[in-house]
Amino acid sequence: MGFKVTITPSNIEFNAEAEDFILDAALAAKVNFPHGCKNGACAACKCKITSGEISLAEYNKAVLTDEEIAEGYTLLCKSHAESDIIIDLPGFVNGFPIRTLPAKIEAIDKIGTVAILKLKLPANQQFNFYAGQYIDIMYNGKNRSYSLANSPSESGGVELHIRFRPGGAFSEAVWNELKVGQILRFTGPLGSFTLKNSDKKIMMVCTGTGFAPIKSILEYMVATNNQRPIELIWGNYTAEDFYHTEFLEKWAKELNFTAKLCINEGNHSEYYTGMVTDYIVENFTDLSDYEIYACGNVAMIENLYVVARSQLQLGKTDFYSDAFTPSPDSI
Ligand SMILES: Cc1cc2nc3c(=O)[nH]c(=O)nc-3n(C[C@H](O)[C@H](O)[C@H](O)COP(=O)(O)OP(=O)(O)OC[C@H]3O[C@@H](n4cnc5c(N)ncnc54)[C@H](O)[C@@H]3O)c2cc1C
Ligand code: FES
Repeated sequence: MGFKVTITPSNIEFNAEAEDFILDAALAAKVNFPHGCKNGACAACKCKITSGEISLAEYNKAVLTDEEIAEGYTLLCKSHAESDIIIDLPGFVNGFPIRTLPAKIEAIDKIGTVAILKLKLPANQQFNFYAGQYIDIMYNGKNRSYSLANSPSESGGVELHIRFRPGGAFSEAVWNELKVGQILRFTGPLGSFTLKNSDKKIMMVCTGTGFAPIKSILEYMVATNNQRPIELIWGNYTAEDFYHTEFLEKWAKELNFTAKLCINEGNHSEYYTGMVTDYIVENFTDLSDYEIYACGNVAMIENLYVVARSQLQLGKTDFYSDAFTPSPDSI
C-alpha cells in the first residue's frame, strides 16, 4: 500500500510504498529531494517530519543524533513511511527536470590520474542544472555518478573529472575504450550539492576529483560576480595528484578566494602534509560564521562533519556534502 508524502511549505506531493526508502520514492517520482550518499552516512537528506509515522533502518549515528530523532529529524534515504507523512523543508523547490539524454564525447584529456571528459549535448535539447549537481552515466548496463565540473552558464556541453581506478568498469573504459565522437547516455541533473543563499563565509573542502563540483560552483560564482569569502582546502595523496591548479590562481584574481593544498605523503614547502580535517583543526577554532561544502571521500566527509560540529561550533544546518560513494555494483 502506498502512502502520501507531502513536502511543505512548497506542497510537493509523491507516493511512497512501505517497502521503499522515501528518498528512492521521491527520486522515482522525479522529486529531486536533497541527498548525497543514499546510504545514511552524509546527512544531506536530513529533514524534519512534522506529521506521520516512519521507521528508520540502520544508519551512521554520527550524522543523526538521538536528540535530533526526538525532535522529529530523520534521514530520508533510510526511512520507510508507515502512514501519510508531512516533511518540513523550507525553501525546497523541485529544481530542473531530470532527463535522460544522449551526448557525444567531444574530448578526453588526461592529466595524471584524472581524465577531463567533455560531452556535447544535442543542439535541439536543453539541459539545465545548478552548479554542483551530478549526472548518472549508463555504460555497459552499469550506472556511474559523476559531478558536473563546468558552470551552468556555459551552454552546449558538460565537463566531468574522472579519476582512474584500476579495474574500474567505467573509469578504465574512459582510459582504454572510449573514443571522441562516441555517444553516451546520461540521466540528470541529480543531487543538491549547490550553493545556498547566505552571507556566511564559505569553506570548500574536497579530496581528489571532489574538486569537480567545487570548480562548477566557483566558475558560476565568477560568472555571477559573487564575492562571498571562500577558503578552499583540497586534499590528495601526493602533489602529483593535483590537476587544473591554474584555476586557483584565476579564482584568487576573480573571487574573494584563498586555497590550501594538503597531501598525505611527502614534504613540500607549499603544501600542508596531513589530512584536510587535520589542517582545519590546526588552523580554525570557530566555524560558527561559515558554511562548509565538502565533497569526495566518504570517510573524510563523515569525519569533517563530526569535527566541525563537535569541536568548531559549525551551525547544525551549515554543512553540505556530496560523498563519492562507490557504486553498489562495483567489481
Ligand atoms: C554523487 C556522486 C558523484 C561522483 N562524482 C565523481 C566525480 O566527479 N569523479 C570521480 O572520479 N568519481 C565520482 N564518483 C564516483 C564514481 O561514481 C565511481 O564510483 C568511480 O568513478 C568508480 O567507478 P568505476 O566504474 O571506474 O569503478 P568500479 O567498477 O565501480 O570499481 C572499481 C574498483 O574501485 C573501487 N572503487 C570504486 N569507486 C570507489 C570510490 N568512490 N572510492 C573508493 N574506491 C572505489 C571499487 O571498490 C572497486 O574495487 C561519484 C560518486 C557519487 C555517488
Ligand atoms: S544520509 Fe541520506 S543521502 Fe546521505
